[in-house]
Amino acid sequence: DEIYLDGLRGVVPRFPMTYDELEPLAQAAMPASVRSYVMGGAGDERTQRANVTAFHRWGLVPRMMVGATERDLSVDLFGLRLPSPLFMAPVGVIGLCAQDGHGDLATARAAARTGVPMIASTLTVDPLEQVAAEFGDTPGFFQLYTPTDRELAESLVHRAERAGFKGIVVTLDTWITGWRPRDLAISNFPQLRGNCLTNYTSDPVFRARLARSPEDDPAAAVAEWVRIFGNPLTWDDLPWLRSITDLPLILKGICHPDDVRRAKDAGVDGIHCSNHGGRQANGGLPALDALPGVVQAADGTPVLFDSGVRTGADIIKAIALGATAVGVGRPYAYGLAYGGEAGVVHVLRSLLAEADLIMAVDGYPALADLTPDALRHLT
Ligand code: FNR
Repeated sequence: DEIYLDGLRGVVPRFPMTYDELEPLAQAAMPASVRSYVMGGAGDERTQRANVTAFHRWGLVPRMMVGATERDLSVDLFGLRLPSPLFMAPVGVIGLCAQDGHGDLATARAAARTGVPMIASTLTVDPLEQVAAEFGDTPGFFQLYTPTDRELAESLVHRAERAGFKGIVVTLDTWITGWRPRDLAISNFPQLRGNCLTNYTSDPVFRARLARSPEDDPAAAVAEWVRIFGNPLTWDDLPWLRSITDLPLILKGICHPDDVRRAKDAGVDGIHCSNHGGRQANGGLPALDALPGVVQAADGTPVLFDSGVRTGADIIKAIALGATAVGVGRPYAYGLAYGGEAGVVHVLRSLLAEADLIMAVDGYPALADLTPDALRHLT
């Protein structure tokens, strides 16, 4: 209604209304190294594409005369009441997507304005404390890339706790960087050049490991970061991770039901089903195809989902397949690159408006009405 009423006054939307239109505009607005980093996936990017097309194989069955004049998109997640099931998945280096390099702060402000939580990456351009300060009343989550140095890992988590984050999302699928031809072709690893290590360089434990301060010897700080970045965690590490925080602990990158069961046995609070948007390993299952098995094994434990979500219809389908909350990565990164904070707000509000209208038109007024029975698998 807002857009149509604006139209009566001759105001047309500033931003494109579909992901397919936004993507090329945003890519054109980015420097080449940021573009290849954001758009790129693993291998020939078949899995990245399959994440998207997996949604096209499901269709929602419309129900009529339901009178869905009021819709309720709110969800309970880890004791928090959220206005919608949408969240922003962690996108490291996203700061560089904004013209001024402070895209993390712009994204956090968009979270404050929309109520859509941001999971802030370990690889933010601005320190996590400054990101959290922009969240307003919207809860935020901290994504941990677990360093090999346990004391440093604990320091990052405890800083996130003090900064007011409401949960720790531990990413399991990126202790080593996948085969990303777009970045390899131009020898591009923005973390090494960009100023994306501030969560480390501002950390007292990290600083104590260096002979000279990161300001005096940035190259040594980067070398130390490379040395400690990737921890190939095993299930034996999980009790330690569980022990270092009382915040909800969520494991990201889980796609196998047995891994869900092991995670639950170790006392995690949430499962984040994702294949990292197809950036880490090519040739894998589209994340959506893994979702039903993960939900079944989770057996009531909240399941966050991302990878391939591009539309409001996709959000609805992931919810119907059992996700508690649904995340986007590239869509809001592109919104940021093209339109800054306002671009992120536009992307999030458009996704939610489309989801809401589908619930109205198709007669599913509450998220609880969206069950697998509402979907048909298309052959
Ligand atoms: C990511 N992703 C990611 N995940 C994570 O846990 N920590 C991180 O720092 C990053 N960094 C990152 C950078 C970029 C440029 C992208 C596109 C993605 C993965 C992200 O959280 C999410 O899983 C995917 O982006 C979801 O897929 P879509 O929505 O991009 O298809």
